[in-house]
Amino acid sequence: MPGTTMALPAPSAMPTLSELLKAETAEHHRHAERRQLQRDLAAGRLAPDAYAAWLGQMLLLHRALALAVQGAVPHCAALAAVIRAPEVHVAHLEADLRAVGVEPAAVEPIPAIARAATELRACAADAPLALLGHDYVLEGSTNGNRFIARAVARTLGEGALRYLDPYGETQPSEWSGYRARLDALALDAAARATVVAGARAMFDRVAELSVELGERFGHAGPDGDATSGPPSGPR
Ligand code: HEM
Repeated sequence: MPGTTMALPAPSAMPTLSELLKAETAEHHRHAERRQLQRDLAAGRLAPDAYAAWLGQMLLLHRALALAVQGAVPHCAALAAVIRAPEVHVAHLEADLRAVGVEPAAVEPIPAIARAATELRACAADAPLALLGHDYVLEGSTNGNRFIARAVARTLGEGALRYLDPYGETQPSEWSGYRARLDALALDAAARATVVAGARAMFDRVAELSVELGERFGHAGPDGDATSGPPSGPR
């Protein structure tokens, strides 16, 4: 209209990939952190055998992810651009396990981790970008794990905390560097959705790990939230 100034709506800013991942997995994070075994780990209430079993399954999970990433890197440049040295977490878990008297080669997967390994292999072949989402979850867990390490130290000592606190004081800058590498990728909406799906699947497998180990080690208390299943629903 002549002489009239019309206010146009501001173009909605597209969230960065790290913002999208955080927002789209918030419910999955909440579900995973509220499993009884996870809450007891965070409160330093796991007995040595349960902590050792948790370390063992996390080793198998990280190893499966590192192998999948290694297999997919040649045909997915985004993985190489974001993920640095996944074998470091594997090495920390192996050292922690030996520190608690468990030989890493002797660890067998529980069903949740066997499922995760199958999914990770399938992603490496068919949907390599999903592996970025899987990796985001395990790398992002270092944010909370630093605090969990302090609680574990109070009851089990400081001998096996390399995995829970891999970066020490540099953890915030490690995490902001990781997010910056994610955000530097140029991905379309479909590719971003694939990454989010991978992240949600990883949160679900970690939640299932807590439930399965919780049942074995007496940490199978009531759900910490109102929902009985994972946010992504029954599979
Ligand atoms: C009781 C258990 C847990 C506690 C207390 C906890 C706590 C936290 C805290 C404090 C943050 C930082 C939040 C922020 O600065 O915005 C965080 C971030 C995160 N945690 Fe956890 N967490 C727990 C369990 C888990 C588990 C089991 C996973 C998955 C294996 C996980 C994955 C993540 C991820 C991916 C982030 C990064 C979110 C983002 O900024 O994008 N957490 N957690």
